[in-house]
Amino acid sequence: MKIGLLYDQLRPDERLIIEAAKRNGIDLALYDTNELALDVTDVNDGVDSADAFLQRCISYFRSIHVTATLEARGNPVVNSFKAASTCGNKLLASICLSRAKIPTPRTYVAFTQESSLRALEQLGYPAVLKPVVGSWGRLVALIKDSESAKSIIEAREYLHPIQQVYYIQEKIKRPNRDIRCYVIGEQAVAAIYRHAPPDDWRTNTARGGVAENLPLTPELEELSVRAAQAVGGGAFGVDLMETESGLVVHEVNHTTEFKNTVRVTHVDIPRLLLEYTVRQAKK
Ligand SMILES: Nc1ncnc2c1ncn2[C@@H]1O[C@H](COP(=O)(O)OP(=O)(O)O)[C@@H](O)[C@H]1O
Ligand SMILES: [Mg+2]
Repeated sequence: MKIGLLYDQLRPDERLIIEAAKRNGIDLALYDTNELALDVTDVNDGVDSADAFLQRCISYFRSIHVTATLEARGNPVVNSFKAASTCGNKLLASICLSRAKIPTPRTYVAFTQESSLRALEQLGYPAVLKPVVGSWGRLVALIKDSESAKSIIEAREYLHPIQQVYYIQEKIKRPNRDIRCYVIGEQAVAAIYRHAPPDDWRTNTARGGVAENLPLTPELEELSVRAAQAVGGGAFGVDLMETESGLVVHEVNHTTEFKNTVRVTHVDIPRLLLEYTVRQAKK
């Protein structure tokens, strides 16, 4: 049984996966996607196969294209193309969450400044504008009134056309933190609070958000597992917020950093990820 680790950069998280493989006797082969050239029309292109692949590329576009190609060659990949391409686009993920009746913030999609302003009037200020593809809180903007809406949206009009898909969401009244829950297969395995840093309203640990262990509760487990199933099933980091009427899910992440969660929860997420990948190979 050989597991392939697909990466574009070896972050501390990927190094934890490599160490976990060594500790648990899992045969892990490294696939640097910077060096990969795959023949789409012929599997006999000299690229060694693996029984299953764990996809860890940071680049969303690279990861889904590699995953699609490997799946077409008959290789299981964690996460699947279906799940990864859905999660990597916040609009597609919101559609899945909403269809599965999972509590999620009210969200609009609009394509011009004028229609975005109408959406914002419907939602009320403050509201949040997000890029449909992006992570680490990048370009996630708090819009306080119609004046700032105009200037923020105007700035987006000079960016790549994907930034003109305006994904606009109600600002949830939450404590100064959110929740990240890790789901692997059918199970929630660990969760943390992420406390916003003093100089930002966003809680991403990549922006200085501070992780704290959060013992799993039945509500958190149930919602997170349902969110994971709604996007197609696999291994995810589900982002949730606390509201007066319970938890809402605002994002499902498909290639998740976990080093801070491992540090504060002592849950061996890299081992669980590898074991889950092994189980996909045996199917
Ligand atoms: N609707 C919202 N209300 C309040 N805070 C939000 C909302 N959406 C996002 N945030 C904050 O912004 C952060 C980044 O947003 P998120 O949708 O998770 O995008 P990213 O993919 O960049 O992490 C969240 O972790 C949360 O702290
Ligand atoms: Mg997030």
